[in-house]
Amino acid sequence: MKLNPYLSQQREYLLFVYDEKAKQMKAAGVDVINLTIGDPLDETFPKVREKTLEALQGMRSSAYPKSRGETNYLNSVAGWIKRNHNLDFNPATEILSCNGSKEAIFHAAMLFDWSDGKEIFIPSLSYPVYEASASLHGVPYRYLPLSEETNFFPDLEAISDKDWQKCGMFWINSPHNPTTAIADVAYFNKLIDLAEKHDFIICADECYNDIYYKERPPSILDAKNSDKWLLFRSLSKRSHMTGYRCGAIISRNKTLISALARMRAPMGQGTPSFIQTGAVEAWNDDRHPMEFAKYYKERQDILRAALESKGFKIFGGDASFYLWFSHPKIKKSEEILELFLEQGIVMTPGSAFGPDGEGFVRLVFCVTDEVCRKTAERIRNIKC
Ligand SMILES: Cc1ncc(COP(=O)(O)O)c(C=O)c1O
Repeated sequence: MKLNPYLSQQREYLLFVYDEKAKQMKAAGVDVINLTIGDPLDETFPKVREKTLEALQGMRSSAYPKSRGETNYLNSVAGWIKRNHNLDFNPATEILSCNGSKEAIFHAAMLFDWSDGKEIFIPSLSYPVYEASASLHGVPYRYLPLSEETNFFPDLEAISDKDWQKCGMFWINSPHNPTTAIADVAYFNKLIDLAEKHDFIICADECYNDIYYKERPPSILDAKNSDKWLLFRSLSKRSHMTGYRCGAIISRNKTLISALARMRAPMGQGTPSFIQTGAVEAWNDDRHPMEFAKYYKERQDILRAALESKGFKIFGGDASFYLWFSHPKIKKSEEILELFLEQGIVMTPGSAFGPDGEGFVRLVFCVTDEVCRKTAERIRNIKC
């Protein structure tokens, strides 16, 4: 059998390439600082750990988890929506659980029949899973250009009606990884109008919304009511639960939610029920992400000052735990990386996130205070 053409290309998942590089440097004895992966090192929300352990200890025998989510878990997601967005969502028909949002994002393309030549529209600078999913499912996709001038979101006005007719799914990620840019409600509303006019589904990936430093970033939940979107939320960043694999798929479109439930049932995607029990504590509490954001902000300030002292230009920074920056005198991401590598700091080049990332780099600061301080000291030694 021939391999899937995408796998025949020997392509690596680019976000892990630089993490791997850092690990190799460490193994070779370099005192390396690895700022490549958005995997928080700080403590998981403690109540989650307590409840998860308690639930596990109470389980003498095991049982398959419900792939669509345990009732208490789905109720807690509905409660979170009600408290934060003042909307009533039916946990039985409008919400599903997922094993973290990555797998749900990856599988979403399978929901639709692509035989009529429709395409997936992907920002040309984005979380690489959108492109990998389209490619591995054999669905055509197009990259939509974006830049600092368009606030790092595609310019919706620049797409003609004829091109919109080709759109089957549109990925939007706000706050945006890697640039930290935030879309406003007007942008979401405009996108919804277009989705209604041209009959496509908006896939909103919002795993960073709860880590913010000014106002809470708008969600598609704050936009006009529509059944043209699927929303992917996650506890990974919000509650420091990357290893627990807990997320939710939310939509007003009951037909899509029901189809997703049927699609996902044979996949074996259910999060273990004792983890879902613990995760209820995370959805039920809105304070802890704000507490996390306080120390993230301190770390960001330390790094920001060091980067700016060397002439780096930082974009955004009002949400998530990334810094996205360039240097006015250095055009290539790899050249910027090289300067940091000389100091033992590994980051991810903007080009790993798509064609429009060239010239930028992304640094993560969900590491310890000490690592942030050490990074800042080393940045001050950079010669540029
Ligand atoms: C933009 C974006 N979406 C989704 C995810 C997936 O996160 P998880 O599967 O842990 O929910 C990530 C992880 O880094 C991400 O950056």
